[in-house]
Amino acid sequence: MYLTKEEEAMLDGEEGETLQKAIEILVALGEIYGADRLIPVKSAQIAGVSYKTIGDAGLEWISDLHGKVKIPSVLNPAGMDLHDWKKMDIDPEFAYKQQKIIEAYEKLGISPKCTCTPYYLEGFNASYGDHLAWSESSAVSYANSVIGARTNREGGPSALSAALVGKTANYGYHLDEMRKPTVWVKVECELEGSDYGALGYIVGKIVGNGVPLFTLQGKPDNEELKFLGAAMAASGAVALYHVEDVTPEARNNKFIKPDEKMFIEKSQIREIYERVGSDINDVDIITVGCPHCSAAELSLIAELLEDKTVNKEVWICTSREVANNHPELVRSIEKSGAKVVCDTCMVVSPATEKFRAMMVNSGKALTYVPSMCGVPTYFGNIYKCIREAVKE
Ligand code: F3S
Repeated sequence: MYLTKEEEAMLDGEEGETLQKAIEILVALGEIYGADRLIPVKSAQIAGVSYKTIGDAGLEWISDLHGKVKIPSVLNPAGMDLHDWKKMDIDPEFAYKQQKIIEAYEKLGISPKCTCTPYYLEGFNASYGDHLAWSESSAVSYANSVIGARTNREGGPSALSAALVGKTANYGYHLDEMRKPTVWVKVECELEGSDYGALGYIVGKIVGNGVPLFTLQGKPDNEELKFLGAAMAASGAVALYHVEDVTPEARNNKFIKPDEKMFIEKSQIREIYERVGSDINDVDIITVGCPHCSAAELSLIAELLEDKTVNKEVWICTSREVANNHPELVRSIEKSGAKVVCDTCMVVSPATEKFRAMMVNSGKALTYVPSMCGVPTYFGNIYKCIREAVKE
């Protein structure tokens, strides 16, 4: 792997121990995956933030690092709403450790914006062809597929290393040849809203880490693509997909349809909604916002909850920036008794573990809530989720 003189010096420890460790990680990954060199990246999104997932060992590791990141960098969701963790019934000891993690990242120059939808942040947007080092799997999928930027599914340490060095190793989805479709998925029915999450849940399980090329009956909007990518990244390990005539690389290239193909029918989508883990009457929490809600989603939820009162715990997860930019939507939603929860989510917070059963409108949450929180989970579209929330 070719390294510049500056990179060699960094590797020799001439710029301190933290940068030495960081470039060692990047070079090791590059050598494993056959990278020819390091390439500059425009931004980093760093996972490994919730105290629930990284614990004391993670806190200690981050606290031992020194220096400043070289590119704009933000964090993945933390284990709690950083401003109002009491409304989530978070243990004070957990809250203390969580704040320490955020402070340790901030000391490195990383923005404490904790979100899995960094593409909604002002000034952080990625463009077609940009090289990035993002780590949250749904954000990676969105960046690669919907924006046409280029990032691997970075782990927390490798995204942090890329942020400190300002570069990443040139392999995987940074290269043209890795971005070609490997499986053709023909969807034979019309879909809307969370149906795309159900589709992603089915396809991800089958294609693993392949690159699906979809032929759809209609044209999904970016929020529907967000649901599709998030679900495939969770039930499988899909980091990039294309939709004929919709996503930018499928518009710019005449992709040859891969030999491997699969067909999806309406009955398969319906089955995801009908799967039950326990009695639906057990549902005592409804969560929306996986991935974090956009302003448009908040607006729809506010409309659906207008003049209504929720009779269950309801979390609407979003980034603090989106919430701060739309205080009227937050007020309107919270008037119903639902909670707008920022900086965190139903999966990475320990606060959801005490509930009996959850209803979600996300194929990703449908995969992770049962496995990471131990809570049986139902799938419904946003209309069903809100109906269930206000049911007497
Ligand atoms: Fe985001 Fe949490 Fe879902 S990080 S994609 S809301 S599991």
